[in-house]
Amino acid sequence: MVNVAILGFGTVGSGVAEVLTTNGGLIDHRVDDLVRLKYIVDVRDFPDSPYKDLFVKDFAVLENDPELDIVVETIGGATIALDFTTRALKAGKSVVTSNKELVATHGYELLQLAREHGCSYLFEASVGGGIPILRPLTSCLAANELEQVTGILNGTTNYILTRMIKAGLTFDQALAEAQANGYAEKDPTADVDGHDACRKICILAALAFGRHVYPDQVPTQGIRGVALEDVAYADSVGCKIKLLGRAIRQPEGKVCAFVAPHLVPGENPLSGVEDVFNAIAVTGNAIGDVMFYGRGAGKLPTASAVVADVIDIAKDLKRDRHNGWEEGAPDLVVSTDGLRSAWYVRVQASVEQARSRCGDIQLLARSGAPAGEAAFLTAPMTEPEIREKLAGLDAGSLFRVLA
Ligand code: NDP
Ligand code: HSE
Repeated sequence: MVNVAILGFGTVGSGVAEVLTTNGGLIDHRVDDLVRLKYIVDVRDFPDSPYKDLFVKDFAVLENDPELDIVVETIGGATIALDFTTRALKAGKSVVTSNKELVATHGYELLQLAREHGCSYLFEASVGGGIPILRPLTSCLAANELEQVTGILNGTTNYILTRMIKAGLTFDQALAEAQANGYAEKDPTADVDGHDACRKICILAALAFGRHVYPDQVPTQGIRGVALEDVAYADSVGCKIKLLGRAIRQPEGKVCAFVAPHLVPGENPLSGVEDVFNAIAVTGNAIGDVMFYGRGAGKLPTASAVVADVIDIAKDLKRDRHNGWEEGAPDLVVSTDGLRSAWYVRVQASVEQARSRCGDIQLLARSGAPAGEAAFLTAPMTEPEIREKLAGLDAGSLFRVLA
């Protein structure tokens, strides 16, 4: 018998209970043992839940139960979740989580702790919701020197952008829908301002390149600066605006990582990723390009990834699951200043001004554009170069174009 506990019976935690129950027979068969939900810990009471007899309030009950094997942490945040995770690992219980904030900020130390205590810390659901990405990155692509990872990593913002464009919803209406669907973070500014995507690109970078990249090392811009005017201009050249997290291998083991809205050309498969879907493109020196696609948030898709980790651990409770994630360093992440790309610019300027400042540009058009607004694509250059050229102009938007 393999005993499991869930911490936090919210969107994901309740989905984990549902998948463990609904698919119990096949899970037992695949593990070749009985996998049983033994406890649920939540601050609230759930008197009408079919699991009402499993609820306990005191985490010490779990910590002190020698028969408990796996703790699923779906509380979120990096305070109480850190405390419970640390205590569970010290008690020799493996921990599975969907909590990217905790993994991105404390992943290295928690992985170390798990190894010291002969257990595992797995977090497949922390990136891309239900998409299998972390295990493929560290197992199926293990033969490669990975060169870059680029992803639409936040379901809420992709959902908002899609609903605003396709259904004409306002930002607030689209966000309310994402919240009602259970996609958004408790504080949705983490989605809108790019922090959630930042945490995910940190996790991907750590697994792709082998060292902890911390969120405060990664320049992050969300979708607040994306206007419907920009969407219209992008559309005129067959591009979509997407919030991307990117991590690019640099010489001497360094990493360039950032989160920002980009114009994605129509021929790039990332441009067709809509609603709550996420996609992650990985480039390796043997495989070339490979892409992972699926639902990036939501109760059951996320629970699918969590329970897959539970099954992996349940099959072999004591296996060393070392994933190559080593300590970070203050100078690991290099500035994006050296990264060249074409740029999308929308400014208050005449066409002549735009041309004299930026040289060889491709002018864009949209219906209803006011006089004095210029939008264009530039030749490839660095960010300091484009900012110097635009100095003194009233810049509305400045986004990279994904090559
Ligand atoms: P929810 O807010 O829906 O669930 C969290 C649950 O934990 C709530 O029931 C909450 O109660 C409870 N809780 C709060 N404090 C404690 C405590 N001290 N002890 C026990 N339980 C507590 O969040 P989600 O399920 O959406 O997200 C959980 C984690 O998964 C987060 O890290 C999130 O980022 C991540 N995630 C979420 C996805 C999604 O689609 N929702 C997808 C992928 C990852 P109360 O509501 O009363 O505070
Ligand atoms: N709030 C997150 C998102 C949940 O919208 O992508 C999945 O990690």
